[in-house]
Amino acid sequence: MRKKIVAGNWKMNMTPSQAVALCDELKDLVKNDEVDVVYCVPAIDIVPVAEAVKGTNVCVGAENMYFEEKGAYTGEISAEMLVDAGVKYVIIGHSERRDYFKEDDELLNKKVKKAFYAGLTPILCCGETLEQREMGVTMDWIRLQIKSDLVGVTADQVKEMVIAYEPIWAIGTGKTATTEQAEEVCKGIRDCIAEMYDAATAEAVRIQYGGSVNAGNAAELFAQPDIDGGLVGGASLKADFGKIVCYK
Ligand code: PGA
Repeated sequence: MRKKIVAGNWKMNMTPSQAVALCDELKDLVKNDEVDVVYCVPAIDIVPVAEAVKGTNVCVGAENMYFEEKGAYTGEISAEMLVDAGVKYVIIGHSERRDYFKEDDELLNKKVKKAFYAGLTPILCCGETLEQREMGVTMDWIRLQIKSDLVGVTADQVKEMVIAYEPIWAIGTGKTATTEQAEEVCKGIRDCIAEMYDAATAEAVRIQYGGSVNAGNAAELFAQPDIDGGLVGGASLKADFGKIVCYK
């Protein structure tokens, strides 16, 4: 049985002091040993959030990282820095990074491999645009993303990682994919992993749905056989996140 994992993606929200206040507000609401709970926070919030969640069931995640170990990469943050600060998870390839910051699959593949090398668990994001969905190429596109981003990644690593399916048209729009649409693609991703690796790897990898997850739709989404939790943007910044974590 795969353990559910619910991760908040705070995006570019919360100053360090606001971040600590949010951790305090959520502390009792997100207690649920049946679910892995992660706060993926802006880089500057990592240290204070790691301190604020110490001794709780919450793990800290980053929203991005660079693949080089150190050196002249102004503005970037290495996997080693994240690990030293207490980070366990890192979001890689969110559609906002792919789109606004032009991160391509070749770069994301390097980041995924580096995350594993450093001891971080990647949350690899994939997802189609509305145009792609309407053209009927959703699964072709997502299979291409997964295959490109996982070049050189071993079965044992894939078993440990998290893949987040986030249809771009559902992110921040209040327009959630239907349960059927979300399950269909998450199952398609699992089938793709089975083809690339083997049945045991496909059975082990955790696949989240993301895109306007909220307190009202989490239970139905997370009850699907191939949906192992959610990557939550807007609703992770308020008390509602507790209801998503305690969806049952
Ligand atoms: P949303 O964002 O929940 O606000 O739609 C999800 C995400 O981008 O990870």
